[in-house]
Amino acid sequence: MKEKLQQIRERALQEIHESKELGRLNEVRDNILGKKGELTSVLRGMKDVAPEDRPKVGQWVNETRAAIEEVLEEKIKKFQEEELQRKYKSEKIDVTMPAKQAVKGNLHPITQVRNQLIDIFGSMGFEIYEGSEIETDYYNFTALNTPQDHPARDMQDTFYLSPEFLLRTQTSAGQIHVMEAKKPPIKIISPGKVFRSDDDATHSPMFSQMEGLVVDKGISLCDLKGMLDVFVKKIFGENTTTRLRPSYFPFTEPSVEVDVSCFQCGGKGCKLCKGTGWIEVLGAGVVNKKVLEGCDIDTDVYSGFAFGIGIERIAMLKYGINNIKLLFESDLRVLDQIDDN
Ligand code: PHE
Repeated sequence: MKEKLQQIRERALQEIHESKELGRLNEVRDNILGKKGELTSVLRGMKDVAPEDRPKVGQWVNETRAAIEEVLEEKIKKFQEEELQRKYKSEKIDVTMPAKQAVKGNLHPITQVRNQLIDIFGSMGFEIYEGSEIETDYYNFTALNTPQDHPARDMQDTFYLSPEFLLRTQTSAGQIHVMEAKKPPIKIISPGKVFRSDDDATHSPMFSQMEGLVVDKGISLCDLKGMLDVFVKKIFGENTTTRLRPSYFPFTEPSVEVDVSCFQCGGKGCKLCKGTGWIEVLGAGVVNKKVLEGCDIDTDVYSGFAFGIGIERIAMLKYGINNIKLLFESDLRVLDQIDDN
């Protein structure tokens, strides 16, 4: 009996030793210690052992079982530990690895400048009116004191859609809509796209303007000049001033071109201002009485001023862009550099 137990023990230890994975160890355990296992059947055979030998045999069986179990448990533990390490390794997170770069976009320079203008004029109490890009000849020209055969129509090469409809050449068309819909006091800005058959380094067939219109009692050119001074300081810097030059627009009288003192050289003369110390930035003027009257506004009581800013022009000046096409080519190497918001 002792020999048989010895054999079982040796074979068990051998098999445990040769097991390469947890599943195999469980098999070995079942084969030897399980319900139908070899050692269990030896225990079952105890009834055939002479009663006086039973305690001794029982002790041998128990010793054998304990010895096998000890080695088995040890090996199971080892396998479980290895399995755990493998899992740790495969699920390892290196917290020192550089994080994935989040790609941050920015607004288009035109949108940035438009937003800056809206902020500046919004803080002065201007409301926003958005007109439409398709206009009638009447709103774009006739109501703005530019009738059919007026020579000023040649100032803007117009895309006509039909004899009546056209792509607006100026946001000034919105002035008329606003004055027809609302009586003074009026204080609006109107940003939007405009279209002219014009194409070179500083002109594009489509560009953006921002119209401004103020109509109230006692409005004069001085109000325009005062407001423009505040505006240019905010957009180009504290030391910027303005200068008005006589000009001509059919819908303003008098009309002016507005120059800003060169914000790059401070007025000494440089490449940007072509040595003059001044840069032209917008057209403006006192609203022509004929335009107000056409909108049923009493010119004995009310007067107004209007201005039109070219948004691309402001963006080009502010960010040193020398070709308007760069603003429409969507080249991220250019656009990425301008992040002012
Ligand atoms: N509409 C004019 C232009 O496009 C600009 C302007 C607007 C001039 C308002 C005076 C008043 O050239």
